[in-house]
Amino acid sequence: MASEPVNVNEFQELARQALPKMYYDFFTGGAEDQHTLKENVAAFRRIMLRPRVLVDVSRIDMSTTILGYKISAPIMIAPTAMHQLAHPEGEVATARAAAACNTIMILSNMSTCTVEEVASSCNAVRFFQLYVLKRRDISAQIVHRVEKNGYKAIVLTVDTPRLGRREADIKNRMVSPQLRNFEGLLSTEVDTDEGSNLEALAEGIFDTSLSWEDIGWLKSITNLPILIKGVLTHENARKAVEVGVAGIVVSNHGARQLDYTPATISVLEEVVHAVGGRVPVLFDGGVRRGTDVFKALALGAQAVLVGRPVVYGLAANGERGVRRVIEMLKDEFELTMALSGCSRVKDITRGHVTTEFDKL
Ligand code: FNR
Repeated sequence: MASEPVNVNEFQELARQALPKMYYDFFTGGAEDQHTLKENVAAFRRIMLRPRVLVDVSRIDMSTTILGYKISAPIMIAPTAMHQLAHPEGEVATARAAAACNTIMILSNMSTCTVEEVASSCNAVRFFQLYVLKRRDISAQIVHRVEKNGYKAIVLTVDTPRLGRREADIKNRMVSPQLRNFEGLLSTEVDTDEGSNLEALAEGIFDTSLSWEDIGWLKSITNLPILIKGVLTHENARKAVEVGVAGIVVSNHGARQLDYTPATISVLEEVVHAVGGRVPVLFDGGVRRGTDVFKALALGAQAVLVGRPVVYGLAANGERGVRRVIEMLKDEFELTMALSGCSRVKDITRGHVTTEFDKL
């Protein structure tokens, strides 16, 4: 038997072995030249740590609070589509792992298990990621189901009016499995049954006219806090605060949308400054190490979301694989805190890292 993985990167190879090429490519890939995909990870490597010594680190407390919900560490599960392509138990397994790790899972609108199935399978705090559809009435119905099933926030993804060009999926003729949140809702418009081409599906259902004015509409149909996912500039960060969102997720969609956007870690600080502490800023893209979590927090994020590594853990070993991935990141983060002289999350400051921009 192959040796046990010792870091989350090693789960990628296990996922490759476990999955048909088409699905592995779907989970791994980025847009076009995949420049941003590489940069999301590489930019972390250019940030160095500035540890403090002779600090009492005999007790490390990684816990933090997001929108009032206490979690065991600032590491959450990003919304990623179609978990049943990775493992038959799909999002239910991922949600159970989130519960076991005492963290928050954000369920994707494009999940293979339904909002209800995930809710009834675990008692973790769950958020729901929303794409607004051309058929607003259907989005409203989904939001209603999300509220009814105890999800605690809506994470509105705003970087996907159309689907980025993912060339591996085009080559593989990647098709969608059944997206069961839409079951019975969309059948007359677009085929959401097994076999739909991803791009055609997105073009058929996503509302490309969505704009800042529509945040008001979303607020009018729900009392849940709304976070905006996909902000990369100070201009948009200010605008988001102005329209009254409850939080911002700095994200380039794991480099699957617009290639040649900067690595998310290199724009995090710009967004944090613009927000000025008025709402929490979450972060995703390229988090593969506990040191990455630490760097994102030092640059002002309240927590990170993890995308691909979670899916790799799921593909490798279902719920247990996802748990392992989160535990590994937590263990590495705890060690990073100890070796940097931080016993609580709030001890992590800007002075604990140095970026390439600091040297200019
Ligand atoms: C995603 N992402 C995503 N985002 C979203 O808002 N809704 C979605 O349905 C999906 N689906 C999805 C599928 C797959 C296979 C991936 C890899 C990503 C983006 C996701 O939430 C997150 O922004 C990135 O995955 C973060 O980057 P890392 O951790 O994968 O590097």
